[in-house]
Amino acid sequence: MRILVTGGAGYIGAHVVRLLRSRGDHVVIVDDLETGNAGRVPDVRIERLDLSEPSSIAILAALFAEERIDAVLHFAARKQVLESVLRPAWYFQQNVAGLANLLLAMEEASVRRLVFSSSASVYGSVDGDAITEEAETRPLNPYGETKLVGEQLVRDAARAFGLSAISLRYFNVAGTGWPELADHAVLNLVPMVFERIDNGLPPLIFGDDYPTADGTCVRDYVHVLDLAEAHLAAVERTDAGEPGHRVFNVGTGEGTSVRAMVQAILTVSGSELEAEVAPRRPGDSGIVVASPAKIARELDWRASRGLDEIVRSAWDAHVSRSAVA
Ligand SMILES: NC(=O)c1ccc[n+]([C@@H]2O[C@H](COP(=O)([O-])OP(=O)(O)OC[C@H]3O[C@@H](n4cnc5c(N)ncnc54)[C@H](O)[C@@H]3O)[C@@H](O)[C@H]2O)c1
Repeated sequence: MRILVTGGAGYIGAHVVRLLRSRGDHVVIVDDLETGNAGRVPDVRIERLDLSEPSSIAILAALFAEERIDAVLHFAARKQVLESVLRPAWYFQQNVAGLANLLLAMEEASVRRLVFSSSASVYGSVDGDAITEEAETRPLNPYGETKLVGEQLVRDAARAFGLSAISLRYFNVAGTGWPELADHAVLNLVPMVFERIDNGLPPLIFGDDYPTADGTCVRDYVHVLDLAEAHLAAVERTDAGEPGHRVFNVGTGEGTSVRAMVQAILTVSGSELEAEVAPRRPGDSGIVVASPAKIARELDWRASRGLDEIVRSAWDAHVSRSAVA
């Protein structure tokens, strides 16, 4: 297949690019390299472009024709929740206008297969049972709103010009398939704990009075390589002759408490620090765990890597980076 990957120099996109190329697909990347890194994807053509610029439409349409693109995997987006609260208009411009421009170019060039990176943040405040795709969508922040509006736009485009699209709602992505593709941005629990360990500070747990077994929040951690494989299954399932929009959770269905995760990291790192409990953060739900039943049934995808592999791979990448720095 000939595939255009937006955001292909980013953490998740670069994992998918590597899997696509290893199975012989032709890949072209569009990325503005704001948070991405071209070093993750050597030997792949990168068109440096901010998708939110209206001028990107004509450039993309020409690129689709020149490269004879069959399908698009759309990862490019800003993803920091706090930043989205501070700069909501910019988040909508980046994530929603960027997607709209991409869809305009796809329509113009008759490219009709799309996989869209959505997020469990479309669900908002949920607690308890494993979340199915039918659960109510009520995002808690502008970032989650841009993902939900993005899904709606993709659905409408499927009706309008015969797009065959899949939105994948990722749960908590972590780990790495190759050290050089790791995510070093200190935005999620795993890199946050690494940073505390590096500085000899106790890792922080925000709240231990949630209605969960050990009182700390419970999340569904999915290995980035499992997630990457879900994209391969998804793009196979899109079919230019069969328009429509499907939504799938990508998670393991297994919950891990923040305390258990922090302990797993401390053990792998050999640290003797002990976690400290800090006050709850506003907006954190107690339990956010996916029901992965639909993606298992319809795309025959299941996560195969566990917590140990997630933590070990992330820690090894962290250590090898610190050794180089
Ligand atoms: N990492 C997670 O835990 C997680 C969870 C749920 C959903 N997602 C979604 O997955 C996708 C990839 O996330 P990631 O973790 O790899 O992030 P990342 O920041 O590593 O990758 C995003 C890539 O897109 C590029 N990009 C962003 N906006 C762009 C624009 N307007 N034009 C061109 N390029 C642009 C960046 O330079 C970067 O290379 C995003 O859509 C994100 O919202 C990520």
